[in-house]
Amino acid sequence: MRTELCRKLGIEFPIFAFSHCRDVVAAVSRAGGFGVLGLNGFLPEQCETALTWVDEHVGDKPYGIDIVIPGKYEGKGEMDPAKLEQQLNAMIPPEHRAFADKILADHSVPRLPEGEKLNVLLGWTAATATPLLRMGLKHDKVRLIANALGTPPADIVQEIHQTGRLVAALCGSAKQALAHQAAGVDVVIAQGYEGGGHTGEIGSVVLWPEVINAVAPTPVLAAGGIGSGAQIAAALAMGAQGVWTGSLWLTTQESDLTPVQKDLLLNAGSRDTVRSRSFTGKTARMLRNDWTEAWEAPEAPKPLGMPLQGMVTADAMARMHRYADKARDVMFNPAGQIVGQINAMRPVKATMRQLVDEYFEAIERLQRLTGDAAE
Ligand SMILES: Cc1cc2nc3c(=O)[nH]c(=O)nc-3n(C[C@H](O)[C@H](O)[C@H](O)COP(=O)(O)O)c2cc1C
Repeated sequence: MRTELCRKLGIEFPIFAFSHCRDVVAAVSRAGGFGVLGLNGFLPEQCETALTWVDEHVGDKPYGIDIVIPGKYEGKGEMDPAKLEQQLNAMIPPEHRAFADKILADHSVPRLPEGEKLNVLLGWTAATATPLLRMGLKHDKVRLIANALGTPPADIVQEIHQTGRLVAALCGSAKQALAHQAAGVDVVIAQGYEGGGHTGEIGSVVLWPEVINAVAPTPVLAAGGIGSGAQIAAALAMGAQGVWTGSLWLTTQESDLTPVQKDLLLNAGSRDTVRSRSFTGKTARMLRNDWTEAWEAPEAPKPLGMPLQGMVTADAMARMHRYADKARDVMFNPAGQIVGQINAMRPVKATMRQLVDEYFEAIERLQRLTGDAAE
């Protein structure tokens, strides 16, 4: 199971786990995989605390970080970084905020206490993601930096390479993968349609070999829909150097999601997700609910581009998180179709062990078939 990329990173299993939860990241790396902490959404001070915590809990294992510098977003390159938030705010029509507000009012989700600090811009722009990256680069155990939603800018790739670390980038098509490769990205993550979070239009089984063939010999991690060791075996059989997983870890014991979110995810079937632009402005897969349906209605305003839609929904997201019990039918629950297969809350270590066991069972199944053919 140890691929070349495992050797490069010094890990036992080619199982990469994306999570916004520091406990999951540390636990995956400790169990022989590679945890990757999603920094998008962290305020700078929270980011430093989380990285220090992972350093202290990951033992001598490596881990990664993930930032979001989209290839395209509203105001990109045109705005003064110091006035970014103010200028972007001026681009938001009042009807969008009123529409978001009404959905929450209709569900009796309370307002935040007066004066609560909101991270309105999250890390959806180069100006907000770069400081988080720089913090990550100060932590020695961080050995890989992934970028989502676009090819990382040349100066960022160079800066990371100068520190001796690997750069990875997510893609949803062979064309994007080739652009990443041309920019010097070391590891391409091919995420299929069924994956959780921002996702494209090509299903994993079609996308993975397309990307693997396009960028060979650059290593590719297969993402989107992985929930079992047999799926890992399939990805490695196609030539992937590992798998990149997300939804699988949301309902682990270590995950810091609210009990309401875990309950919704554990009870969801594989038909219960939808791709929607209603939270971030770019198409992302999440659990379908009254919020996603409301934005699909004919009278709904058209979601704005990134990061504007995220600025519209920042207040709503904070309220949903704070008052999860009330927000059950409207909350933001990014997740992939594999949620249908995840029905029990288990520790990360047990999940890792099961993935590895199932992988070897799958290999044995194939070996028995080869044996039959030889007889
Ligand atoms: C809750 C959630 C949040 C995500 N946020 C990000 C993100 O900030 N950056 C990123 O690169 N990928 C993000 N993703 C996508 C994952 O990195 C991963 O590619 C995806 O989950 C793989 O598909 P799967 O969910 O079927 O395992 C997110 C996924 C989920 C489920």
